[in-house]
Amino acid sequence: MIKGPFSYSGNKTRIYNAYLKPIMQKYNRVHEPFVGSGVCMYNANNGGMSTDVDPAVVAMHQALQDTALPNKMQACYDTYFKSGHNKESYNTLREAFNKDWLLNGVTSENVHQLYVLSQIAFNSLIRFSKNGFNVPFGEKPLDVKRIQQHVDLYKTKDIQVTLSHYNSIDVSKVDKSRDIIYFDPPYIASKFQYGGWTIQDEKELLQFITELDRSGYKWILSNTFYHKGEMNTPLVDWSKDHYAYLIDMSYNAWSARVTSVEREDETVRLSLQI
Ligand SMILES: C[S@@+](CC[C@H](N)C(=O)[O-])C[C@H]1O[C@@H](n2cnc3c(N)ncnc32)[C@H](O)[C@@H]1O
Repeated sequence: MIKGPFSYSGNKTRIYNAYLKPIMQKYNRVHEPFVGSGVCMYNANNGGMSTDVDPAVVAMHQALQDTALPNKMQACYDTYFKSGHNKESYNTLREAFNKDWLLNGVTSENVHQLYVLSQIAFNSLIRFSKNGFNVPFGEKPLDVKRIQQHVDLYKTKDIQVTLSHYNSIDVSKVDKSRDIIYFDPPYIASKFQYGGWTIQDEKELLQFITELDRSGYKWILSNTFYHKGEMNTPLVDWSKDHYAYLIDMSYNAWSARVTSVEREDETVRLSLQI
């Protein structure tokens, strides 16, 4: 299994080999409408079409089509970290990145800086406030090889990542017998809201999947039934019509405040209709 190109809260690295790979490896492409770091899409036999509503996430995937990205990252590191792998160097780069980000957002011109920052950042977090990237120095090493691996993947697999809502995925390009669609939405029960996923969003997604299912598409949904004493009733009811596998595990997740670590205990259920 290869990791995604960047670390991401909620990525499926921990459950990929045991639960997802045995199914996904039978398919040609794995489409990820909630791509995050895209662990399943990158590990698929022939990539997939993916979407996400987070512009930084999408820009980071799209940047992997630039074969010069690894060199740009190394050059950026050599320029900003001349005086050592330390907080001062990191903060100078972060300031330069944020100056441009405030005017233009994440662009093809500054995305290599974001890759360098996110790799070295505290817990490799990617997090923005209204003033820009705001994760403190984390002493993590630069890992250009990880990015080179993904740049190489783009040359051999059919991968597209688009900035859009999950339901804009072009299903006419999904092969009903050879491809599978993997839905990994934000969890309503989680405090990691990814822009505020609501119960209404959840119901619309379940309806969207029901329609795809009726039209004969293969899919997997991972989600949580139960979190901190709260039951996700619409999901539980809906799952009764599908195959559901229980993955009993807990996530250690970093809270929004980096000074404290909070533990999220979640039972992940995977619904499968294949
Ligand atoms: C649980 S994460 C996915 C993690 C991913 N499977 C991985 O391996 O890293 C959920 C993702 O859904 C995205 N998202 C939230 N609302 C969305 C929407 N309406 N359409 C598409 N993506 C959305 C978030 O930005 C986030 O990246």
